[in-house]
Amino acid sequence: MSKAFYDTLRFGILGGGQLGRMLLQKAADFNVTNCVLDPDPEAPCRFIADEFVCGSFRDFDTVINFGRNLDLLTIEIEHVNVDALEQLEKEGVKVYPQSKVIRLVQDKGLQKIFYRTHGIPTAEFHLLDSIAHIEKYASQFPFMQKLRKGGYDGKGVVRLESSNEINKGFDEPSILEKLVDFEKELSVLVARNSQGECSAFPVVEMEFNAEANLVEYLFSPALISADQEKKAIQIATHVAQSIQVVGLLAVEMFLTRSGEILVNEIAPRPHNSGHQTIEGNVTSQYEQHLRAILGLPLGSTQITKPSVMVNLLGEKGYTGHALYEGLQEALAIDGVHLHLYGKKITKPFRKMGHVTVTADTLEEAKLKAIRVNKMIRVIAS
Ligand SMILES: Nc1ncnc2c1ncn2[C@@H]1O[C@H](COP(=O)(O)OP(=O)(O)O)[C@@H](O)[C@H]1O
Ligand SMILES: [Mg+2]
Repeated sequence: MSKAFYDTLRFGILGGGQLGRMLLQKAADFNVTNCVLDPDPEAPCRFIADEFVCGSFRDFDTVINFGRNLDLLTIEIEHVNVDALEQLEKEGVKVYPQSKVIRLVQDKGLQKIFYRTHGIPTAEFHLLDSIAHIEKYASQFPFMQKLRKGGYDGKGVVRLESSNEINKGFDEPSILEKLVDFEKELSVLVARNSQGECSAFPVVEMEFNAEANLVEYLFSPALISADQEKKAIQIATHVAQSIQVVGLLAVEMFLTRSGEILVNEIAPRPHNSGHQTIEGNVTSQYEQHLRAILGLPLGSTQITKPSVMVNLLGEKGYTGHALYEGLQEALAIDGVHLHLYGKKITKPFRKMGHVTVTADTLEEAKLKAIRVNKMIRVIAS
């Protein structure tokens, strides 16, 4: 006999941003009561969490005190105090993804070594302690230099064309990665539950805003060959099984011009590249993450409709109380689904919300998404 559902389970999330907010929206359907920790008193989860604790998820004592009241703890950002999570695991709190997974993912150098030792295809790299050591690799430019720790959304990543540009580089522990001549950037979300059951979502394609280094559009399904689809899913599943994650794992990849698939980086949590699953797939990434960490069977990941996701970014030149232009017009279009994140203040390129457009064909969804992207502007009063 199954037990009654989860209303007595004490569930917490480190991070109160938009990913946490969409996770909470689904958690309510599972009768899961929740508690969220975030330093921002106006974080997107603030007004929809059952309980909100304002504090730093990077601070050992704050995370320990937050976690000791819980049965199950998850994350929506990986820059959290992992020593505290390890201690909580010892005390019997279920931490999913596990602290060892978060520790690995926090360091891009450890990630790359992990790929190498597990036969996971990835771009060639060197580890660098300081910029002075870059001279050794003078004949191998161009590179992407990436900080080992703390980077996100393109912050912590710099392209170095030649040794003349090393003044642009970071003088910190970093990786030097060969520049990849890619045709597309792909992402595969894989969920793995505590029983070791694994299930991947179909591959999606990400298109970045060059200026902001953020995903601007997401296309589902990715327009790639059946072989490439199979290969990408195989690789992502192999990563999830090797790392033994419990929960969702986003695997960002490059499809190179020569048809190779290389893993770029991973994130053990719901991800920007899975927003479209809310309307475009049988099970959303948020539901799948909950199923995985609650030890439930994983849901079908099948696409119900082709979809395109557009990130709604704060307009350049506007900082202040957010105003949304063009919503009336955009929502009049069939298949347009709006998600605003409840952020009061906008600034240039801040992720303020997203729109998913579903249609009978990907082509139609793309055309509508491009129109919507022009219509909606996030400005400030
Ligand atoms: N080796 C590479 N070659 C070419 N482009 C790269 C390479 N590594 C990263 N990039 C580009 O930079 C972006 C950000 O790099 P990534 O490692 O994913 O860092 P972040 O943690 O900021 O997302 C990628 O999405 C891709 O567009
Ligand atoms: Mg990335």
